[in-house]
Amino acid sequence: MRKPATLFTLLRRLAPSGGARTRADAALKTVRLLATGGTIAGAGEGSSVSYRAGVVPIGAILRAVPGLDAVAKVSAEQVANVGSEDVDQSIWLTLLGRIRVALADPEVAGIVITHGTDTLEETAYFLSLVLPSAKPVVVVGSMRPGTATSADGPENLLDALRVASADEACDRGTMVVMNDTIFDPEMVTKVDVRRVNAFAAPSRGPIGDVLTGRPRFFADATPHDAAFPVVGPAWPRVAIAYAYAGFQGDDVRAAANGAEALVIAGVGAGSFSAGARQAVKALTARGIPVVRTGRQGMGDVWFNPPSMGDMSDAALGTIAGRELPPAKARILLLLALQTPRSREELQSLFDRYGAGGR
Ligand code: SIN
Repeated sequence: MRKPATLFTLLRRLAPSGGARTRADAALKTVRLLATGGTIAGAGEGSSVSYRAGVVPIGAILRAVPGLDAVAKVSAEQVANVGSEDVDQSIWLTLLGRIRVALADPEVAGIVITHGTDTLEETAYFLSLVLPSAKPVVVVGSMRPGTATSADGPENLLDALRVASADEACDRGTMVVMNDTIFDPEMVTKVDVRRVNAFAAPSRGPIGDVLTGRPRFFADATPHDAAFPVVGPAWPRVAIAYAYAGFQGDDVRAAANGAEALVIAGVGAGSFSAGARQAVKALTARGIPVVRTGRQGMGDVWFNPPSMGDMSDAALGTIAGRELPPAKARILLLLALQTPRSREELQSLFDRYGAGGR
């Protein structure tokens, strides 16, 4: 089922093409490309096994993409050039500033961000929570560097440009494109360390594909207009503790040391041991928000009712992280805690932005 067109979509469909340009040129949309590094900007010794991410400048990457001129008019900008393990909140703020400038430019139809795949889903989820959804913002990477035999970067980049310049992609906000597939940032996760089909949305599946040169969407866009329009520069410190057999109160206390909030990657449906529960109760009694998530990467950690006794969220003072994996639950807390909020308010944010129900 298609969403009704917004004013923005209608204006784009009705917009006249420029007089002096050729027909083919006039049909092409302008896409702003913001480069941050990753394997898509990686280079090695002729093999995909050994290479460095975040070394090739965006100009050189674009020159190596065949047929790019027929897909979109691209204006590119290097925002950073790092492996995505080094993407941090300061890079997010710089990127956000550049995206906002591009979104305000009436010539720009959509935005593509090249990014390392290791934390790509985190940047995409962050952007989905802070940006308006009218123009498409597409985050893309590759699993193999440009120097590899059968590199996947050029096709992924072309697909990202196709999505960013397609009318069908408007009003969908931030998306992830990898390996012919379009994903919702809330649901997408990297599930393989090397294969080109490294990304999946295990709970709900992808929202579309790019197999024929045009994006095809098979899921409705979920409305998620700029939930947190004002961001930073003061971020709370939010830590993550990973539960395991033998996880104890000391592990919780060590992880939470100095943190303003804690996410627990729990076993099962966000559970943790009796010792860890005591430590969590002590934190929540001091007003430190603690979110329970699952370490499995799939499934809904919902609010535990009082009938669950000392494992209930009421007894623990905790928040249920719903379908968000620990790293994304941390991002929602980073943004939510820029304003003081009660546990009930935080839970309703997780229900809204962590369970596919936006
Ligand atoms: C990175 O995340 O920067 C390295 C890995 C990749 O892009 O695939």
